[in-house]
Amino acid sequence: MNNKNLLLIIVLITLLNFVKSSDLSYKKVHLVDSIELANGNTNYFFRGNQPTQTLSNGTKIFPYDELVEFLRNSSLSEFGVKLPEQFYIIDIKLISGPLPSELPDLELEQNFFAANPTLGESRTNQTWGDIIDPQLVPQDKLEEYASTISSWSADKLPQRMRDYHNILLTERELPTVLYVHCECGCDRTGEVMASYVMKFKGWDLPKALEWDFAIAGRDINFSNRWSAQWYCLYLNYVENYKLDCNQPTPPPKSLISINNY
Ligand SMILES: *[C@@H]1O[C@H](CO)[C@@H](O)[C@H](O)[C@H]1NC(C)=O
Ligand SMILES: *[C@@H]1O[C@H](CO)[C@@H](O)[C@H](O)[C@H]1NC(C)=O
Ligand SMILES: *[C@@H]1O[C@H](CO)[C@@H](O)[C@H](O)[C@H]1NC(C)=O
Ligand SMILES: *[C@@H]1O[C@H](CO)[C@@H](O)[C@H](O)[C@H]1NC(C)=O
Repeated sequence: MNNKNLLLIIVLITLLNFVKSSDLSYKKVHLVDSIELANGNTNYFFRGNQPTQTLSNGTKIFPYDELVEFLRNSSLSEFGVKLPEQFYIIDIKLISGPLPSELPDLELEQNFFAANPTLGESRTNQTWGDIIDPQLVPQDKLEEYASTISSWSADKLPQRMRDYHNILLTERELPTVLYVHCECGCDRTGEVMASYVMKFKGWDLPKALEWDFAIAGRDINFSNRWSAQWYCLYLNYVENYKLDCNQPTPPPKSLISINNY
């Protein structure tokens, strides 16, 4: 085979991988936090990927039962946490736009909860990542930029972390499961989850991103890593945290794959 054909095949494989969006994956579903409330309920925070399932005839559905099974098994096997018999799911999809290619998936979850309002609800939050690399910002500007992310960074992470935490602190009749995801559960989700564990668990940026890499099975997008880093610096400058905000070394190339689980 000559080099031209090889290149063509590589391009085709790459395109196919981008077109293919993967279904709900057990490996991506993880309990991130839980909060016990005064009314005796506990609320739970999970990360994951797109909750869709492709039937053998090619039709995609919102697999509610499978999602619940994955939530239950994952929290039990990873943390020994047994979810209650019944809970209310607040399903937040992290969108960029949304991208037209992701609209059908979003509609599936929106339609499911519109038809089953006692089981939960579907929301969205814009998540883009940042295009300013903190490594390239001069030291004397770093504090100014980091302290003002709420005004220039589209992802509004300071506000968002408060929003998510407030959802977890809210008493409802049923315990709440906050399920935050994007398509892969890697880049947008990685940024937001890294931010959450820095803010509420005091994790350093390297630990938070290495957790993301392990779940994604690869490095995450630079723009989402930079957002998490800006938020880390924000926590240090504005909220007096003392976090290590250095970027970790990305995992070895052998782990990096555009083909998600
Ligand atoms: C695929 O199968 C499901 C479940 O059996 C059915 O509801 C759906 O209409 C089918 N879709 C097509 C395109 O045949
Ligand atoms: C979840 O746990 C049940 C009961 O132990 C088991 O039958 C099922 O295979 C598990 N599912 C996954 C995805 O691990
Ligand atoms: C995230 O979405 C929720 C629910 O739709 C909304 O109330 C909140 O303002 C959004 N947060 C941010 C920071 O965009
Ligand atoms: C990474 O993020 C940038 C900026 O949001 C985007 O343009 C790019 O397509 C993303 N790359 C991948 C591989 O997702």
